[in-house]
Amino acid sequence: MCGIMGYSGPRPPLPLLVSGLERLEYRGYDSSGVAFFNDRGSIDVLRAAGKVSILKERVGLLEGHPGAAIGHIRWATHGAPTVENAHPHRSGPIALVHNGIIENEQALRERLKSEGVHFQSETDTEVLAHLIRREYERTGEFADSVSKALVQVEGSYALAILCQDAPADLIAVRQGPPLILGMGEGESFVASDIPAFLHFTRQVYSFQSGEIGLIRHGEVRIGTLSTPLSSWKSPVARTISWDPFFAEKGSYRHFMEKEIFESSRALMDTLADRIAPGNLLPELLPLAPFPPPSLTFVACGTSWHAALLGRSFMESMGIPSTVEIASEFRYRPLLIPKGSWVIGISQSGETADTLGALELARKEGFRTLGISNVPGSSLERESDLCLLTHAGPEVGVASTKAFHSQVALLMLFSLALSGRNHETHELAALTRSPHRLETFLEAISPERYDQVVERLRHSRLVMFAGRGVDYPLALEGALKFKEITYHPADGYPGGELKHGPIALVEPGVTIVAPMVEIGLRQKEISNLREIRARGGYVLAIGHSIEESQRGIWYDDKIDLPDGPVWSGVFQAASVLQYVSYRVAVALGNDVDQPRNLAKSVTVE
Ligand code: AGP
Repeated sequence: MCGIMGYSGPRPPLPLLVSGLERLEYRGYDSSGVAFFNDRGSIDVLRAAGKVSILKERVGLLEGHPGAAIGHIRWATHGAPTVENAHPHRSGPIALVHNGIIENEQALRERLKSEGVHFQSETDTEVLAHLIRREYERTGEFADSVSKALVQVEGSYALAILCQDAPADLIAVRQGPPLILGMGEGESFVASDIPAFLHFTRQVYSFQSGEIGLIRHGEVRIGTLSTPLSSWKSPVARTISWDPFFAEKGSYRHFMEKEIFESSRALMDTLADRIAPGNLLPELLPLAPFPPPSLTFVACGTSWHAALLGRSFMESMGIPSTVEIASEFRYRPLLIPKGSWVIGISQSGETADTLGALELARKEGFRTLGISNVPGSSLERESDLCLLTHAGPEVGVASTKAFHSQVALLMLFSLALSGRNHETHELAALTRSPHRLETFLEAISPERYDQVVERLRHSRLVMFAGRGVDYPLALEGALKFKEITYHPADGYPGGELKHGPIALVEPGVTIVAPMVEIGLRQKEISNLREIRARGGYVLAIGHSIEESQRGIWYDDKIDLPDGPVWSGVFQAASVLQYVSYRVAVALGNDVDQPRNLAKSVTVE
């Protein structure tokens, strides 16, 4: 869950490494560091505890000597977030950065200690630096020593490695966590994610797990740990369409804010070319059996909430579907119906639990599908078919526009599977939803939310409740709220409040109620009346909520435009995201990098 970056080329490396690390900071922000060649031809290491801004101050006007250089941002797993534990780690001529976990670290550490090695940190990464150094001292061959050292290692790693004796050379290895190569003119980049180098090149190659690359300026050769350097080959890059602007905040204060307002574009790009009547989601055509007897969705966090919405759409089309939290599913007996498709949903495409769940299904002979936002992600490679959402890079740790694009894709998927691929009111609603959302977002007046923000910010407890499609929206609203405001919040099915959660209700408690599901509105209103009767404050979000009912079943409301559920879910989700965003800003929290979280969770 850390972020790594490497460069080999003619530019002074430090400015580009620091700005690349800033773009990767969503992956972790406990500490950061860089290793680069100085003008005397030796490697210098600079590290700092805390955010990249602290490293940036330390780097100051230093540019580093052109050649190879590496950088890292850390999400602590082994050892506290101190300078000593910050990467890069060094051993003699070797310096490296690592994302992943070394499982046999203890055994390797003991062995190295018994051979006289002194450790400087508590990290598992440091053993790698010592192991490679030992092999290098034996062979004098940089690439060969990395391969020889890594065959002794168990665990997962993406690595970028420098050697004092080869100032232009960068070695990159992937065993598990993502690692992308960016190929420019006479220069190359490696990084955990594309936005780190998107300003320099859109030619990318995703390392496969088990691959190692030797990178010298624009020349790259890739092989595996068990093949000799002489057999390594040049990779074939593909061009990605992401706009570098996506990786910038522009005039917005935070990435999260920008990404909330990019949701309509995310919908548009995700649906484009896939929504022609008679030919929905053309990628599905070669799949058999079609349609499958049932679907099982596996996902985590926000993607799990998108899956819950997906289930509603599937069921409304008569397609049996279940939704599982990936980390639970992967350790339960697999008793789903024969012939089912198992569908992993993951923005990053790198979430370890989702990948693990899908791997289990594949081993048991089920057809696996991925829905991911990141081209070249593990999910794309490891599923039988991957449908890409086109939300563009999402930098804020709290997922926003990616959720919208997942939901849109699932709506389209339900229509394609059910054969309703000609004019239906759902298809018409979905086709119009990007434009409707755009109009809605453009009309958001920040001042309108001031009072709502004050109320939520000072509430003793905020609960989110809804029925039907409003239930996953409530869960998502609560997740967003707790992850960036740090205030306790939970989401409930509206009808479930009376079975326990209502005990929490008293004056000072606010219930946020998304109310897109018109068919269940009267039921939800009854639930909300019960809340108000016990002193709770109700904030309703929906269309056609009559002013005359204020003070009867709700206290305040945010109006959505009149329209079908298939548009309303997007607008309600945007409101929930925006409200949490505004409360977090009012509290002075770090919105884009909330504490203890990382954007892609590549550990169990
Ligand atoms: C959402 O705001 C999260 N920070 C988190 O729950 C996220 O959705 C989850 O970790 C799954 O990530 P993925 O979609 O990349 O698999």
